[in-house]
Amino acid sequence: MPGGMEERYSKAETLALRNKHIGPSCKVFFAKDPLKIVRAQGQYMFDETGEKYLDCINNVAHVGHSHPYVIKAATKQMELLNTNSRFLHDNLVQYAQRLTATLPEKLSVCYFVNSGSEANDLALRLARQYHGHQDVITLENAYHGHVTSLIDISPYKFNQLGKDSKKEFVHVAPSPDIYRGKYREDHPDPASAYAEEVKKIIEETQNNGRKIAAFIAESMQSCGGQVIPPVGYFQKVAEYVRAAGGVFIADEVQVGFGRVGKHFWAFQLQGEDFVPDIVTMGKPIGNGHPMSCVVTTKEIAESFGASGLEYFNTFGGNPVSCAIGLAVLEVIEKEDLQGNATRVGNYLLDLLAEQKEKHPLVGDIRGIGLFVGVDLVKDQQKRTPATAEALHLIYKLKEQKILLSADGPHRNVLKFKPPMCFTMENAKHVVGKIDVLLTEIEAATGMKTGNNMPANAQCKIKTSSQAESANESTSNTNGAACRQENGFYPEKCSVPSKRIIT
Ligand SMILES: Cc1ncc(COP(=O)(O)O)c(C=O)c1O
Repeated sequence: MPGGMEERYSKAETLALRNKHIGPSCKVFFAKDPLKIVRAQGQYMFDETGEKYLDCINNVAHVGHSHPYVIKAATKQMELLNTNSRFLHDNLVQYAQRLTATLPEKLSVCYFVNSGSEANDLALRLARQYHGHQDVITLENAYHGHVTSLIDISPYKFNQLGKDSKKEFVHVAPSPDIYRGKYREDHPDPASAYAEEVKKIIEETQNNGRKIAAFIAESMQSCGGQVIPPVGYFQKVAEYVRAAGGVFIADEVQVGFGRVGKHFWAFQLQGEDFVPDIVTMGKPIGNGHPMSCVVTTKEIAESFGASGLEYFNTFGGNPVSCAIGLAVLEVIEKEDLQGNATRVGNYLLDLLAEQKEKHPLVGDIRGIGLFVGVDLVKDQQKRTPATAEALHLIYKLKEQKILLSADGPHRNVLKFKPPMCFTMENAKHVVGKIDVLLTEIEAATGMKTGNNMPANAQCKIKTSSQAESANESTSNTNGAACRQENGFYPEKCSVPSKRIIT
């Protein structure tokens, strides 16, 4: 085995044991032929046969898989001490100081927790305690975590449970998506138009005698389809929400820690005049070590403390997690990973822009730094999501040892969020493969003729991956791309089903 690792079970045995002992709702990637990954380094993952995969999706391994500096920091602290935050320890305060230094001054108080879900759940508690209000405004297609309180405010999830699954205290605002949303790139002021929608919700809510505790949004929607809100939207929303006695929660679980390149936090893309009341962090914060954080203002923290309840979290802020968190921040800086995100991200966007020129399947390219989406469409005018084509492409890329995913409400958006050490050569390699695959798909579907095909004529390619692809199907696909009768992506593809969050 590479790296001196022993494989304890054959792949088939691992799968059988997993099916027996792990809950069936815990899904694997590429269900019909899952990957068994035994080690990873930088932006590469290796399977049990030593096969190397280029990782374009793991934003958790932020500074690169198995980064030696992070491992060393963790091991060193682990050898010395790990305990809870009821004891004084320098790692906790040093890390809090170092982390808050990346944020606007007002955001100065940290609560360390263990997952993105824990962070968002605590953010809701802080928000509700602040003015005693209960209601939450969330965005269409949003996902904020797996605990009950967050499934409640995650349309990405609760929509799968049926029409009546939205709770009374939850209000869903349109996603500020200027490609597919209500107000598009040709609107003179989409930021204000989308913010007005939030204002309307607040007014309706108040008319019904309810009160807004919080507006929560990812600074850029990831599961929602790599959506970048128009500049100025957050400022206006924050103004309306604060006037109603609520707070603005920026979920940076997916997109924080310099991924956007020119800023450390994605909410900063909105401009220096915007400061959220609460910021939640997770995934990349510990480069794979389970840790997360909520940062807020002194006023909100004091109001939370005034409830009289102690906040105790057994693992949150332990010395090992803090040592890891510090090491991650140091690597981001020392290796200029923000600079890399800008350089490689821009190059990737340029390469993809060429693909858009060339391929009718490419409807939109959007992104910043190493957070990039490619919206595939069957019809440039109607922007009909090319769901089956996106799934086909993902499976074909896997065969070529490239890991990419498709997401968004229609699962047609190719989603790049690689480790931050991703290189120009990596970008060139992936886009080259995508180019070949798009050409093949277009040739097979006749798209190149310039005549957009009727939806039921789209699915002609027979591939070995078709059944697998159907298994990766997601919620809310409109099904138009996935007709069983024409044999491209049969069976479950047209049926809303569970999706895999990455
Ligand atoms: C935006 C966002 N917030 C919160 C979470 C929840 O994080 P975790 O899975 O660490 O609980 C996720 C997870 O995918 C996420 O994408």
